[in-house]
Amino acid sequence: MNIIKAKDYDQLSRIGANIIAGLISQKPNALLGLATGSSPVGIYKELVAKYQAGELDFSQVSSVNLDEYVGLDPTAPQSYLQFMKDNLFDHVNMKNYQLPNGLATDLEGECVRYNQVMADLGGIDLQLLGIGHNGHIGFNEPSDSFTKGTNLVDLNDTTIDANTRFFSSRDEVPRQALSMGIGDIMKAKAVLLVVSGADKRDILKAATTGPITPAVPASILQYHPNCTIIADTAAYGE
Ligand code: GLP
Repeated sequence: MNIIKAKDYDQLSRIGANIIAGLISQKPNALLGLATGSSPVGIYKELVAKYQAGELDFSQVSSVNLDEYVGLDPTAPQSYLQFMKDNLFDHVNMKNYQLPNGLATDLEGECVRYNQVMADLGGIDLQLLGIGHNGHIGFNEPSDSFTKGTNLVDLNDTTIDANTRFFSSRDEVPRQALSMGIGDIMKAKAVLLVVSGADKRDILKAATTGPITPAVPASILQYHPNCTIIADTAAYGE
């Protein structure tokens, strides 16, 4: 694991955006794996600024997102499709973006379809990740085994609590999600995990220096051959 220490969230975001912009300039038709949550918002802002400055072209770039809530209207402000439109897709010239469909009537069939979408696009060049307080990546919750492909997840209580801040009440938080599997994340050619804030310090330490275990899903990244972590001082410590 290559760990980059950033002094604060702004620097973390600039470094992350530069890594992604560097990939796109080397490979204009790159397939990006994208993430939601607060951690990547600054990176998206930087990427939009680079696009607006004429430094970056997304016209041949494709993307697949990690996850989507089950049963939430895609136009709801909390849906991950809407999040991605608000933070990136509506502001750059990327046309081919894909997320799991959380409104599919056949959710198992949707997992199969999404796996095929990723396979057809030829493999993820760079997967952007945040980390949950319980070590989840995507929505792959702590468990007794690592997930392989896209799967239907029952969100656990800590995740529901953490995501309540985006809803008007805890009751409104969906209880299920569709998520790319740990196997999909591990197949990405490069992984970029961004971690910000003192509240992530313990889980960052557990994921990077603790045992590799499905009880801490992000710990498997220790086995990834090309994983970069950008952590700010609050998350990493002095
Ligand atoms: C959600 C997302 C994850 C994200 C996590 C942490 O659960 N499904 O992909 O990494 O939140 O979010 P944040 O960056 O807001 O702490």
